[in-house]
Amino acid sequence: MKHANLILVGFMGAGKSATGRRVAARLGRRFVDMDAVIEARAGRAIPEIFACEGEAHFRKLERALVLELAGQRDLVIAAGGGVVLNPDNLRDFERTGLVVCLSAALETILKRVGHHRNRPLLEGGDKEQRVRELLENRRALYEAVARQVETTDLTPDEVAARVLALYGEAPEAPV
Ligand code: S3P
Repeated sequence: MKHANLILVGFMGAGKSATGRRVAARLGRRFVDMDAVIEARAGRAIPEIFACEGEAHFRKLERALVLELAGQRDLVIAAGGGVVLNPDNLRDFERTGLVVCLSAALETILKRVGHHRNRPLLEGGDKEQRVRELLENRRALYEAVARQVETTDLTPDEVAARVLALYGEAPEAPV
C-alpha cells in the first residue's frame, strides 16, 4: 500500500479527524479533512450549506470531492459521516485506497459530538434520538466496510495504531 490513500469513514464522533491527523503525521502524509475542504471552498460552514442550499447540494459537493481525492495518492482522508450513503463514493475510494471504518458506542458518540451546533443532521430535536435513528438507518452501510476499528475503549493513539496496522498489513493496492 505504498502510495495508496488511507480513508477513514464512520459515524459522526467516531474519531475520523483526530485519528486521521495522527495517522498522517506518523506516515508523513498529507491529511485531508473532507468537511474542512468543503467549507473552505464554499466559504461557509456546513450548517450554513445545509440551511441555504440543502443536504442534496452538500452531497454533490461531497461526491465531487471524493472523485477528486480518489484520483490522488499518498493521502490520509477523513470523510464526512454520510459519505457511505452513496455507494459510488466507497467504490471510488476503494479503487485506489484502503478504507477503514471507525465505530463507537452510542454513549461515546454523544459525548464526542457534545453540544456543538456544527452537525446539522443532529439539530432540531432530541440529539440522542437523532443519533439512534441515523445510526440504525446507516448501520448496514458502515458494517459493509471490510476493515473496522471499534474505538469506544481505545485512546486516540491506540486507534491510530490499529489503523496503521491495518494499512501496513494490506496488500499492495491495484493502482
Ligand atoms: C454528516 C457528517 C458530518 C458532515 C455533515 C453530514 C453525516 O461529518 O459531513 O454534517 O451525514 O453523517 P462528520 O462525520 O465529520 O461529523
